[in-house]
This record gives sequence, structure tokens and C-alpha cells, in this order.
Amino acid sequence: MAKEFKRYLVTSALPYANGPVHIGHLAGVYIPSDIYTRYLRLRGRDVISVCGSDEHGVPITIKARKEGVTPQQIVDRYHALIKKSFEGLGMSFDIYSRTSSPVHAQTASDFFRKLYAEGKFIEKTSEQYYDEEAQQFLADRYIVGTCPHCQNEKAYGDQCEKCGSTLSPDELIAPHSALSGSPLVKRETKHWYLPLDKYEGFLREWILEGHKEWRPNVYGQCKSWLDLGLQPRAVSRDLDWGIPVPVEGAEGKVLYVWFDAPIGYISATKELTPDWERYWKDSGTKMVHFIGKDNIVFHCIVFPSMLKAHGEYILPENAPANEFLNLEGDKISTSRNWAVWLHEYLDEFPGKEDVLRYVLCANAPESKDNDFTWKDFQARNNNELVAVLGNFVNRALVLTQKYYGGEVPACGTLTDYDRGTLAELQAVKATLEQNIENYRFREALKEAMNVARIGNKYLADCEPWKLVKTDPERVKTILNIALQITANLSIVVEPFMPFTAAKLLAMLRLEPLDWERIGATDLVAAGHRIGTPELL
Ligand code: 2FM
Ligand code: ZN
Repeated sequence: MAKEFKRYLVTSALPYANGPVHIGHLAGVYIPSDIYTRYLRLRGRDVISVCGSDEHGVPITIKARKEGVTPQQIVDRYHALIKKSFEGLGMSFDIYSRTSSPVHAQTASDFFRKLYAEGKFIEKTSEQYYDEEAQQFLADRYIVGTCPHCQNEKAYGDQCEKCGSTLSPDELIAPHSALSGSPLVKRETKHWYLPLDKYEGFLREWILEGHKEWRPNVYGQCKSWLDLGLQPRAVSRDLDWGIPVPVEGAEGKVLYVWFDAPIGYISATKELTPDWERYWKDSGTKMVHFIGKDNIVFHCIVFPSMLKAHGEYILPENAPANEFLNLEGDKISTSRNWAVWLHEYLDEFPGKEDVLRYVLCANAPESKDNDFTWKDFQARNNNELVAVLGNFVNRALVLTQKYYGGEVPACGTLTDYDRGTLAELQAVKATLEQNIENYRFREALKEAMNVARIGNKYLADCEPWKLVKTDPERVKTILNIALQITANLSIVVEPFMPFTAAKLLAMLRLEPLDWERIGATDLVAAGHRIGTPELL
């Protein structure tokens, strides 16, 4: 028996505020999280969905330097852009916060202090690269040199962007500081580490024994990390951008971005509601992290170890990470500007928000990397959204206007064929629920679209446009059923295509319908007057 939960806390990976959001982020994280949240709300569950911008970390400081502005100016710009474009796509977060907020600084500092006071960290001194001219320690990204593999002279201390190799600063030929160009020296510096090795036993039992239901990619990654053996991880950095390490003797040091960012989920909940502790401290809460596959280790190994060390918070129930989405056969890349940016899509395709939501869900990289192509986008729009969904709804509504002046006709005696169609409609609910609750959103979307397919087939088989001359009574029943199917559609498509669901309700002149009513055949009453049909 699956455990019953009293409430849900849905988190979506906090996007870095150093660039706009693109379709890879949407397909991997945000579309699935919004579908799941909207579904739970429709079912009347107690659910909150939190997200926000991840505003710390080295890449933000690099971008600021490049542009000659402050890191704060960078995050202000992208936080505003991301927030607005998420709203434009109909993302229904209960809060979209940011990690530069005062509440977050307080929450993350308190978290660190508690672990520090309880001796949960180890302190270690190590040698790190230092730039004597700029008088600061250098993150790997701030070290440049020649790539030993492809001779690219502008390789970074952590990666060569030309050949894609992962590097360490020691491998670079003629390494030097990207800040001043000076050669590197090493200096001693002290940092705090979370000894992940001490949490191995807990993680093994919790994940490998307790969460065999996690997606194979997530479970598999966790298992291989655990099998390799975990090492202590530094939770602080020498940097001047971030949350200061809140203990004495830590001048010039900030919390590592991957330490503070997931605590952002807690801070956002605090900002949202004074009742935040119920969501974070009561085992009746089901917490689900929506993330991309590059975030698995942080959400399934590191953050749970932090939560465990802290001791007052619940652990996630699941982290349904997606794989990556490519664009036209090539890896999406911010630095090469190879992406479809959400804010640009919204500008160029006004009114087509649901088309993007639909395509990214229908083609979501749930179990393997997938490819987005404009050809597929067009085909899905024309062959699925227009030909199936739009066509069915349009016929049902236009015929009702034409034959009855928009007044819903009464349902007469049902034929066996009608009964068969309605039985198919009634079967949709359980299948949809099964799929959504198990994070199979592609399958769920197919099932939702199946309602339109059922409707299309019903009209095509019954041909009311022919019968209207010979058997007008029968046509009333046919159109009544077609309208009930249309009303059902307004419920089943809502999690996936909220704009379309709202249009359907407006055209039917109905108030939003409860999830529990899926399959019902009395959603639109005989005599009710529908609105003017518009193309979806
Ligand atoms: O990978 C990323 O884009 C990170 N900014 C995700 C952070 S998720 C959470 F921990 F905040
Ligand atoms: Zn290289």
C-alpha cells in the first residue's frame, strides 16, 4: 500500500540568474513540475509549489566582470526576466523567490550555524590557487590556460569549452589568472566540509532499500555515487559574492552555492506562508524535487545529508529527474547561443504558450535524451493540436450554434455505440491519475488527448451533419454527448495546457470543473447556452 500524504511540497530547481531560461530547462524541470502541481490542485490537495532564482556562484561573478557591472545588477536583470517569462508560460508557482533575499540569508546562515555548533562539519586547511596581484583566491573558472587535449588557449580550470573535456587547473598548460593574467601561486586556506562519508549508511538504506521506485536514471546515479564511496565536501568558498560564512574567522568566505541554493526551497516556503513548518517538519508532507539530471547528486545525496544532519526537516519522497533535451540534433548551449529562449518564444508566438507546453511534454526527455526540432513542433501543432483537439472542439461547438442557436440539446435514448464511447471516457480518469502520480507525464498527456480522439471519432462515426435532415432527435443526443466530452476536456487538459482549458470553459460558459467529475455526462445541462466558438 502506498503511503497516504496529507500535503505536498513541490520544488523546482532554482534556475541560475545568469541567463534566460530555455526549452531544455522547461522540458527537464518546469513543465513537469507545473503539470504535477496543477493536477494536485485540481484534485483539491493541499499543495504548494516553490521556486526562485539561484543568485550566487562563480559564473554570476564572471558574467558581471565581463560586462563591467556588479553581480547584483546581473541577478536583478535575470531574476526579473526569468520570473516574467515563467508567468508568461503559465507556470503556477505559489512563490518565485530569490536567494539574494534577506529571509534566505538568514535561513541559510541559521542552517550553517546549527550544523557548525553541533560539530557536524570538519575544518580543513588546503592549498588553493591564489592571484597575488588581484589579492584573491581563484575559483577553477577563474584560471585559464592551454587545454592539453586540443591546444585551445582559453580553456578554463574546470573545463575546456572547445573540446568539452573536464579538466583540473593542474592539467592546464601555462595556467594563469583570468583576473590579472598573473601566474598562479598556491596559498593555504581553511574551509568547512560536510563529511558525506558519514552519511553513507543512512543514504544506502534510505535510497537503495527505501526508494527502489525512483526512476532508473536517478536510482542508478545514486547507487554509483554510493558504490564509489563518498568524500567530505567543502561547503564554503573564498569568494566575495554569496552568503558570508556566519562564524568567526571566516572573513572573505561565503557559503558554497550548492550549500545555500537548496536551502532556498525552505526560505521560499517561509516567505510564502507563516505555516511553513507544517510543510517542512511534518512527516505527512510529500516533498518532490523536480530537477534535471545534472542536479541528481545534489538533491539525492548532498541535500538529504544536510537535512539529516540538521535533523528537523523531512526528506524528499522523490526527485523525478529528466534527461537532457537537444535542439535540432545538437546539445543546447548558452555560451554558443544554441537554444530556444523562453522570453523570445513568448514574444514571437503570442497566444501559443500551450503549443510549447504541449510539445515539450509530448517529447519530454523522461527516460533518455531527446531532440527538439521545429519540424516536429509544427507537425505536433498541425496533426495533434489542430487536427485532433481543435477540430473536435470546433465541430462540437459550431454545430451546436448552427442547429440550436447555442442552446445545449437534451440527451435522448443512448445507443450501444454511445454507451461504448462514454465507457471509454470514464476509463480516462484512472489512467491519467496512475500516470501523473508516477511522473509519467508524456503518457498522461497522451491519455488527456485521447479524450479529444474519442470525441473526434464519435463525431466522425455518427455524422450528425448527415443525420440532421433525417433524424433530428438523434442529432440532439449526439451533440449533447459531444459537448459533455468537450467539458471533460477542459478538466483533463488543464494541468498540461491551462490557457486552452480556460478557453474551453469560456466557450462553454462554465465555471472550472472538479477533477472528480472526469467521466461525468452531466457537466453541461440541457438548455444551457454556450458562448461563441473560437478557434483554439
Ligand atoms: O543547475 C542549476 O541550474 C542550479 N541553479 C539548480 C539549483 S537547484 C536548488 F538546489 F536550488
Ligand atoms: Zn580542449
